[in-house]
Amino acid sequence: MCGIVGYLGTREVYPILIKGLRRLEYRGYDSAGVAMINGSGHLNVYKRKGKVSDLENFATGNDTTGTIGIGHTRWATHGEPNDVNSHPHYSQSKNIVLIHNGIIENYASIKEGLKKRGHTFESQTDTEVLVHLIEEIKQHDNMKLGHAVLAALNQVIGAYAIVVMDKNDPTTLVAAKKGSPMVIGIGENEFFIASDASPIVEFTKNVVYLEDEQVAILRRGEDLKIRSLKDKEVTPYVQQLTIELENIEKGGYDHFMLKEIYEQPRSVKDSMRGRLNAEKGIVSLGGIVEHEAKFKNAKRIIFIACGTSWHAGLVGEYLFEEFARIPVEVEYASEFRYRNPVIYPDDLIIAISQSGETADTLAAIELAKSKGATIIGVCNVVGSSIARATHAGSYTHAGPEIGVASTKAFTAQVTVLTLMALHVARIKGTLPESRFRQLLYELESIPTKIEQALKLNAEIKDIAFKFKDSTNALYLGRGFTFPVALEGALKLKEISYIHAEGYPAAEMKHGPIALIDEEMPVFVIATKGPNYEKVVSNIQEVKARKGKVIAVVTAGDKEVKGTADHTIEIPETDESLVPLVSVIPWQLLSYHIAVMRGCNVDQPRNLAKSVTVE
Ligand code: F6R
Repeated sequence: MCGIVGYLGTREVYPILIKGLRRLEYRGYDSAGVAMINGSGHLNVYKRKGKVSDLENFATGNDTTGTIGIGHTRWATHGEPNDVNSHPHYSQSKNIVLIHNGIIENYASIKEGLKKRGHTFESQTDTEVLVHLIEEIKQHDNMKLGHAVLAALNQVIGAYAIVVMDKNDPTTLVAAKKGSPMVIGIGENEFFIASDASPIVEFTKNVVYLEDEQVAILRRGEDLKIRSLKDKEVTPYVQQLTIELENIEKGGYDHFMLKEIYEQPRSVKDSMRGRLNAEKGIVSLGGIVEHEAKFKNAKRIIFIACGTSWHAGLVGEYLFEEFARIPVEVEYASEFRYRNPVIYPDDLIIAISQSGETADTLAAIELAKSKGATIIGVCNVVGSSIARATHAGSYTHAGPEIGVASTKAFTAQVTVLTLMALHVARIKGTLPESRFRQLLYELESIPTKIEQALKLNAEIKDIAFKFKDSTNALYLGRGFTFPVALEGALKLKEISYIHAEGYPAAEMKHGPIALIDEEMPVFVIATKGPNYEKVVSNIQEVKARKGKVIAVVTAGDKEVKGTADHTIEIPETDESLVPLVSVIPWQLLSYHIAVMRGCNVDQPRNLAKSVTVE
């Protein structure tokens, strides 16, 4: 949530900040702001409620010159989105400015103290309190900015990624983080700071991922310096970025979401690459090799995740129970962390997260760790906080996901969980060899089957047109496709604002059937498999109440075709792998409905891509 960007070097800073904010806008888009110090030492701050484009319009014609600056795009926590609450925030003297991603939990008590000492505040934010505190410490103890930031952060409880700039020291930026991501790019006589690598990648591949409780001091003409909050010097660990510029651009598509939907044959293949060889009967996941005994002996697996990643965890439950015969629980990280869950040291926790930054998932991991459990990560973002907090893991290799609604991350997560479950089944000997081999071949063919499902786009767009004005929708699935029903409903509601519910098909009789009338579209997955006949009966029940049925079926299906209002035929695959293909029509359907309703597909209202606050 919130995107931050900073630059110190020899280039004009404003275009770098604006471009960086555009790339980070998926993290929050309530308001945006920039601050630059110009060649005469004047500090210019422009901030505006709305999108980065609103900020640009506002700043046009004003002085935006300078080679040092900071920028922010906001997802509001404390204080409504308006011009005043936008970042950067000023210190009391207006000489220091600060941008912040996170929440300062004890800001109220700090603010009380500052008020008593004569400070006045303009905004309702927690952030403004921090910049006042930094300035007070700096002035009182006659400190340099870096040390004042360090001292102030020692008084702070909460999560933050901050960048601070002082008008009286136009050669320095100070950045710090705890619980929110921050990357520093190192170029020739220049530094870049950002919440993720996307604003940096076109300028340099050399980056340092700042660790929690570290303060970075970036000074013109000097090497990067890092100190811990305990004021110990830390040697920066410089890594090479692996992403390319094309990964973070729309590449001719109207929206990132559509591009990412179409990337799935590739992203699923990449998530299997080097890990699956059907001909040789091999599944190998290098990242968990050292923990194979833990998997083998685990009495229980607990998945922890949020949102779409939680849905992938539900598919994981079916996969691990079916293939590896290990009991599984799937937990919302936000619930798990605030109960007093029973966790045994021989429990295996699998934390799933696209961003690797979700605050609740991170906190749930820490809780499980404190009880001695082994934590395995399934993350997409390399080097993210969750990837680093886990004992081991397997990355998903979906590539950067920028559309706020998760698509390719889901199929990549399910792919990796399938590989993991098959691998564990092999170690435990819970699958007959012939079935194991058959599944490997089937899994290898999934990218091609996704490609075939994507060819149904025009047909799905026509269906979308028919249901674009619905106010409610029901999604049904059974067995392996129940999580896909939940995911289909989530996709529709989050980007088109149509209320939608996902249900296990048989549960419909226990309540939701009361909602069905001729206005209600019911999206059902009725592919061939052990539950097929039962789902067909559920479809009959909907039709008997005049509901509209749109069914995803196996290619060549006749029975459902005769009953449903619309059918979408996907290629046949093993029941356990159907989620990977059957989710594609629901992704495309929600995309088209949202576009037809004039919604902002990539930046749906009130949402942000990575939820770094609880
Ligand atoms: C929905 C969506 C969210 C995320 C959730 C978890 O389309 O994107 O529900 O799945 O916020 O995020 P990660 O996977 O980054 O932990």
